[in-house]
Amino acid sequence: MANVKKTIHGEWSSRFAFILAATGSAVGLGNIWKFPYITGANGGGAFVLVYLLCVALIGIPLMMAETMLGRRTRQDPINTMEILTEEAGADKNWHYLGWMGVAAGVMILSYYSVIAGWSTAYVLKAFTGSFFDADPAVIKDIFDDFVSNPLRLTFWHSLFMIATLLIVVRGVNNGLEQAVRYLMPSLFGLMILLLGYAMTTSGYFDGFNFLFKPDFSKLTGDSVLTAMGQAFFTLSLGMGSVMVYGSYLSSDISIAKTSIIIAAADTFVALLAGLIIFPLVFTHGLHPDSGPGLIFKTLPIAFGSMTGGWFFGVLFFIVLAIAALTSSIALIEPAVAWLVESKGYSREKACTQAGLVAWALGLGTVFSFNIWSDVKLFERTFFDLIDYLTANLMLPVGGFCIAVFCGWIMHPRHSEQELNLGRPLWFKLWMLLVRYVAPLAVFLVFLHVVGVL
Ligand code: PHE
Ligand code: NA
Repeated sequence: MANVKKTIHGEWSSRFAFILAATGSAVGLGNIWKFPYITGANGGGAFVLVYLLCVALIGIPLMMAETMLGRRTRQDPINTMEILTEEAGADKNWHYLGWMGVAAGVMILSYYSVIAGWSTAYVLKAFTGSFFDADPAVIKDIFDDFVSNPLRLTFWHSLFMIATLLIVVRGVNNGLEQAVRYLMPSLFGLMILLLGYAMTTSGYFDGFNFLFKPDFSKLTGDSVLTAMGQAFFTLSLGMGSVMVYGSYLSSDISIAKTSIIIAAADTFVALLAGLIIFPLVFTHGLHPDSGPGLIFKTLPIAFGSMTGGWFFGVLFFIVLAIAALTSSIALIEPAVAWLVESKGYSREKACTQAGLVAWALGLGTVFSFNIWSDVKLFERTFFDLIDYLTANLMLPVGGFCIAVFCGWIMHPRHSEQELNLGRPLWFKLWMLLVRYVAPLAVFLVFLHVVGVL
């Protein structure tokens, strides 16, 4: 976040500003759109358990690691890796890690913007009363009809991309911080309200059980990888985004505490989303594995029948689109920072170039839901492929490398000093997690998926 450093004065506000910005990056479509539909597609409880374990044992230690790396150098991710490898006297190739992060961010943004565009379009649908008293079949038709038109999806995708670029061009400013400050409470409030509605439906306990009662027979190697990938995706890890944010963090702030707060808030929103969506799924005889359209086929049912549903529906899709906006900024920032700092581009030129690449790539996702829906590689559409490539491969590989770097390359004296955890025991625990647990977990899951294990 380019200007967070400039806008902060006292200690308290700097910590709060960082938490706001980083929570804004973490909480987004990953929690509300992606978590429910991949949980549905991977059988529920057991998948959720693996996901939670990954957040706690890999996600939090890695978030601390990334924040620490960024704060130590106060540079963009590629420079950070260069400086720190030099400091450690290690191989130069580590800076390729920064490059992979830049690429992953742009690739994720490409489809993120398309889905955020759906949310924006749904503001309008909610506003015009499309969901009023509509039954689930009608609501499904509305969605299917909506995604069948490539031009319409391109329009909303373009609109969202432009909004992202307009904010990023100016550097992240006060306005954004203010937005996140109001956004998170409204999001929490709206979701609690929806949870209240979900609890009155007849499928609430089925939904609850689906989410929290593990059935390990439903767990495949690939779903374990997807759960792990989701832990990275939802916490914005493994691609340098957190490093950029960490580079603006003042040195007297506890990295451990802030990481835990951010991860907890993120997990809370994801679980809330699940507790809202699945009761609706079971109440109305829908399928948990309905894919990327799941929230658009379920939530409108609630808005169409609850008191005040028109108002809450409009508000919800606005809030979701803004939550996506505060994440998309974090997705493109590593690319922009790199183009500016290493290639000497102006901020405008850097944004335009990175944005154009992401926009063009996003057309592949747009077409995956209509004219290219039958075009498949490895049984996956373009959208599925790019999602798999980024969330399930690039982010975990990035996280693996960061863990190895912090655990084995960087001098422990440096990380201990930077993390400043107070008691030596905490540092030992963190070291154990980044040295052994995180890299080994990623490695073993990969081996399992390719069939070696
Ligand atoms: N964490 C965001 C979400 O859950 C997505 C994201 C990933 C944002 C990586 C920034 C970097 O929606
Ligand atoms: Na998230």
